[in-house]
Amino acid sequence: MASEQRERILLLLALLVTSAEGTVSSLKECLVLPSAEGSTVSCHRAMEFPSSLPADTVHLSVEFSNLKLLPASALRDCPRLRELHLSSNGLQALSRELLVPVPRLRVLDLTHNALRDLPSGLFRASAALRTLVLRDNRLRVANARWLWGLRALDHLDLAENQLRALPPGLLSRLHALSTLDLGYNLLETLPAGLLRGPRQLQRLHLEGNRLRRLGDGLLAPQPFLRVLFLSDNRLVEVSAGAFRGLRLLDMLDLSNNSLSSTPPGLWASLGRPARDMQDGFDVSHNPWVCNEDLRDLWRWLHANRHKMFSQNDTRCAGPEALRGQLLLEVTELGSL
Ligand SMILES: *[C@@H]1O[C@H](CO)[C@@H](O)[C@H](O)[C@H]1NC(C)=O
Ligand SMILES: *[C@@H]1O[C@H](CO)[C@@H](O)[C@H](O)[C@H]1NC(C)=O
Repeated sequence: MASEQRERILLLLALLVTSAEGTVSSLKECLVLPSAEGSTVSCHRAMEFPSSLPADTVHLSVEFSNLKLLPASALRDCPRLRELHLSSNGLQALSRELLVPVPRLRVLDLTHNALRDLPSGLFRASAALRTLVLRDNRLRVANARWLWGLRALDHLDLAENQLRALPPGLLSRLHALSTLDLGYNLLETLPAGLLRGPRQLQRLHLEGNRLRRLGDGLLAPQPFLRVLFLSDNRLVEVSAGAFRGLRLLDMLDLSNNSLSSTPPGLWASLGRPARDMQDGFDVSHNPWVCNEDLRDLWRWLHANRHKMFSQNDTRCAGPEALRGQLLLEVTELGSL
């Protein structure tokens, strides 16, 4: 009895192994992991996009390979696909039809490819997509129609491209967006209405661009913003009302800009006395001119100094007599 059972188990195992081998042989560099939810297929160093994917594929990665092109019909056989990871390939373009067969797609990662443009309408069937990562490509000129159809998009990463400007309507239909990363592009200005589409943006990355001014209008539609990165830009001016609507900001990075002063009232809505920022803020590596115009900032820094990063790198660049002094320690500003 026991040995009969053992034989039956061995036979079952043998059948399983043969069928798994059968699948793998048509997907040479790929590992296929079946599960009750559907198959996960991972391919490394594949020379081309795998053909004959299992029809129940829900998760597909073809990364660190040398893909330059994807056939328009690449995803035709896996209508249940939920995640597609294509990072670190050499993709230069995508077909407008690519995503039509996979309307349940939730995650698309195209990090570190060579995309110069996206076809308009690429996402017209992508109403379930929540995460779109286009970081580290060669995108130059954004088209307002790029992102049409992304009704559920929560996380958009366009960092490390070569974008110089954005069309005003780029995000207008992305009502569900909560994280937007535009860091490390070549942006010099942003359209005032850029953030009018999303209903509850929480994280905004604008660091590493060439922004010179932050006006009153940009952040006004986003009162729930919690995290704002503006470091490594060329800001010379932040308007008095730029942060007015922000009541929940927990992290602000203005370090490494060209700010010599900030207007009175700018800091009123942030931090103490109203509330503590949960994470903190950084205003270091700016050429602060420590005269009476900086009194408002100085007082706010003192009230919130327990949340202030890089205190030792927050110094006066002028006037001459105070050059190099720690901003927090310029006691003249407190008594003015
Ligand atoms: C400041 O930003 C520039 C780019 O805008 C960068 O090259 C430089 O390393 C940054 N400096 C510091 C101290 O972070
Ligand atoms: C503070 O900054 C000065 C000048 O940049 C440097 O010499 C010193 O080591 C720093 N101190 C600390 C505690 O980091």
